[in-house]
Amino acid sequence: MAGDAPVVAAGDAPRVLVVEDDPVLLTILTRYLGQRGCCVVRASSAAEALELFAHTPIDVTVSDVRMPGMSGHELLQEVRRRDPEADLILITAHSSVKEAVAAIQAGAADYLEKPVDCRRLHHTIQMIVERRRLRQRVRILELGGRDSTVFEGMVARSRRMLEVFSFIERIAEFPTTTLIMGESGTGKELVARAVHQRSPLRDRPFVVCNCSVLAPGLIESELFGHVRGAFTGADRDHKGLFETANGGTIFLDELGELPLGAQVKLLRVLENREIRRVGSPASVPVEIRVVAATNRDLGRMVREGEFREDLFYRLNVGVIDLPPLRERIEDLELLCEHFLTQFARRFALDKASISVGATNAMRGYHWPGNVRELCNVLERASIMANGGEIQLEHLPADLRRQSESGEDDPEVSPLDLSLEAAERDQIRRALDSAGGRRVAAARLLGLSRRTLYRKLDKYGIR
Ligand SMILES: Nc1ncnc2c1ncn2[C@@H]1O[C@H](COP(=O)(O)OP(=O)(O)OP(=O)(O)O)[C@@H](O)[C@H]1O
Ligand SMILES: [Mg+2]
Repeated sequence: MAGDAPVVAAGDAPRVLVVEDDPVLLTILTRYLGQRGCCVVRASSAAEALELFAHTPIDVTVSDVRMPGMSGHELLQEVRRRDPEADLILITAHSSVKEAVAAIQAGAADYLEKPVDCRRLHHTIQMIVERRRLRQRVRILELGGRDSTVFEGMVARSRRMLEVFSFIERIAEFPTTTLIMGESGTGKELVARAVHQRSPLRDRPFVVCNCSVLAPGLIESELFGHVRGAFTGADRDHKGLFETANGGTIFLDELGELPLGAQVKLLRVLENREIRRVGSPASVPVEIRVVAATNRDLGRMVREGEFREDLFYRLNVGVIDLPPLRERIEDLELLCEHFLTQFARRFALDKASISVGATNAMRGYHWPGNVRELCNVLERASIMANGGEIQLEHLPADLRRQSESGEDDPEVSPLDLSLEAAERDQIRRALDSAGGRRVAAARLLGLSRRTLYRKLDKYGIR
């Protein structure tokens, strides 16, 4: 089925499209790659693959060569015509050197023989993904080459936010459902608007639906509308938010608050692309982009039975993870500039500056309310400073206390930039890539097995 839910999905998991007409091999490959952290989308023909390709961002396509209808070679050509940077791996039962050479010349990233060596396939995918990330990183560096970046009303210079901006640009072109996760005040609504603004639907409606304020008995009618007489009090036809947003984007804010019953209905809309008003026998087709946001841990809610797993997987194809402010504190000064300029304009004051002491205190604070809290703190402080320099005493007592006592939120470890930390991270990454196999990890790291064992001991990595 086109648009099949991925088996495993995570924020920056490689998105792999597997095209195979043999259902058994399709399942084996999907499972193998899914278990190794890939976000797998499946298609059982080239035609289905092309349809998915138009709707979903894909990092790597793995395709069988011989399939009824369009062959893998033809798929390769068509995909590369649409996106010259697309990466495709072909797999075939009847390989000849000549064919392999022709495929590589036509732009295939690799050409594997059946029976498929899953480990080799996975390894090739990892190499391709790594290469694509490098390319993307170069683009981000180009973005960040300027001192700061302004992107659809957001300012940032941290690598993580620049990555978010670059991902928004990429995902916005596709009508993929997007899920924005992040603590309160991290900018989820701004990101949702940016996705819409950067998409081909920017001139169409952007409708906000806050799931936490929908009246429990009326959720379905609010979302999908109702016809006259559908229930007591329904004295006229009512258009729901989905119909209002038709042709544009609907932003489902606080999605984690949507009750299970409404989650089923939402899943159905996403799958069938049609809605039915409460009390109406007929469905209306909708062409709509869904962007959802939540500050809850949906993965955990799934485990605890509070959020539907199938809906989660459907949303999880396009996840944007917004880092909390404390993990990108290098954005602080830039954000301060941004807000102080705004306040100066709004209150017709001179733009305030910030003393070194106040800046340091703000850098050391853990910002549980993130950018929104920063905005509020600065607003109050600039009023108190009355156009002069913002001093430590203009900041809330809480913030000063935390930075004076040097006490950190126990859950938040300060950024560790030591070489040892980098080495530890690199070792973890190599172990992950090698599926936990130490010999392979040592090879990836260019270390002898003994050196790796010593380092594992030193860093207490199991
Ligand atoms: N990168 C940024 N640059 C400029 N302003 C920002 C940025 N991020 C957030 N803001 C501002 O911070 C405030 C909070 O942002 P937003 O409402 O998008 O957060 P949120 O994640 O939706 O929060 P909540 O979970 O509480 O709904 C807004 O005033 C927004 O304009
Ligand atoms: Mg919000």
